[in-house]
Amino acid sequence: MKIIETAGDMQVVAEQARLKGKKISFVPTMGYLHEGHLSLVRMARKLGDLLVVSIFVNPSQFAPHEDFETYPRNFQRDFDMVEKEGVDILFTPKPDDIYPEGYQTYVNLEKLPNHLCGISRPAFFRGVATVVTKLFNIVKPHTAVFGKKDYQQFLVIRRMVFDLNMDIDIVGGETIREPDGLAMSSRNAYLTASQRKSGLSLNQALLAAQKAVESGITDASQIIRETKDFIDSHPETQIDYVTICDPETLEEIHVINRPALMALAVKVGSTRLIDNMILNKK
Ligand code: PAJ
Repeated sequence: MKIIETAGDMQVVAEQARLKGKKISFVPTMGYLHEGHLSLVRMARKLGDLLVVSIFVNPSQFAPHEDFETYPRNFQRDFDMVEKEGVDILFTPKPDDIYPEGYQTYVNLEKLPNHLCGISRPAFFRGVATVVTKLFNIVKPHTAVFGKKDYQQFLVIRRMVFDLNMDIDIVGGETIREPDGLAMSSRNAYLTASQRKSGLSLNQALLAAQKAVESGITDASQIIRETKDFIDSHPETQIDYVTICDPETLEEIHVINRPALMALAVKVGSTRLIDNMILNKK
């Protein structure tokens, strides 16, 4: 596996691969990898001949009060994990290379960020859309894989690629969970044992909501109310949002008479967890 540390070097290697007719597949990450990331790497492996993974903790998607400085980092562990997966290039740029002095260009979407996580994290999707655009221009992938655990991020990237005529296939990977149902996340490393137990309430609430829908309940507000009560009954939880919405536009849905996205964000202690599920009558 080759490590590339600068945008310039990465662009040269990507261009050479393209000239040789190679198909580039790409998985962008912020590192501290887990099985969720690796599931995307395995998907990407099948979609191209040159597999690139990036690790870059992107400062522009963190607000000043958020955890940019303390975000978990472990390069050696990440290196070993992706090397085992047969990754061809590990791209690890430095912040100064991605955002040099005088940097001033950002990518904004008009509607999708006005829901769910975008409400409590107003600059987040601007940072994500900007860095992903830059990574796409640097890595020049034919295909890129994103996890649906970050469902809104997946929609934002797909929409941006369509709107800006980027010639890249965006593929979504399902959420990978711990055996007890907790959605894998680099931030789970912050949780104490008792907070981790409270964190399970997110997945449990989604499963209960799915059961309710299967039993014939169609009133979204009833399910949201019950979900909030259930999560509130767990120690150290503070709900950011519980929403049932259209899986494409993220507009709220009041009557569940078609597949609906249920998405949650909950702070457990000081760690913000998110999870989601498509509710379906079956
Ligand atoms: P990060 O949180 O490191 O996630 C990298 C990719 O892994 C994203 O596509 C995310 O949705 C996916 N992922 C995370 N947990 C997952 C899980 N449990 N199951 C399946 N996929 C999972 O998301 C980011 O980084 C950044 O915002 C990034 C896109 C790299 C831009 O900076």
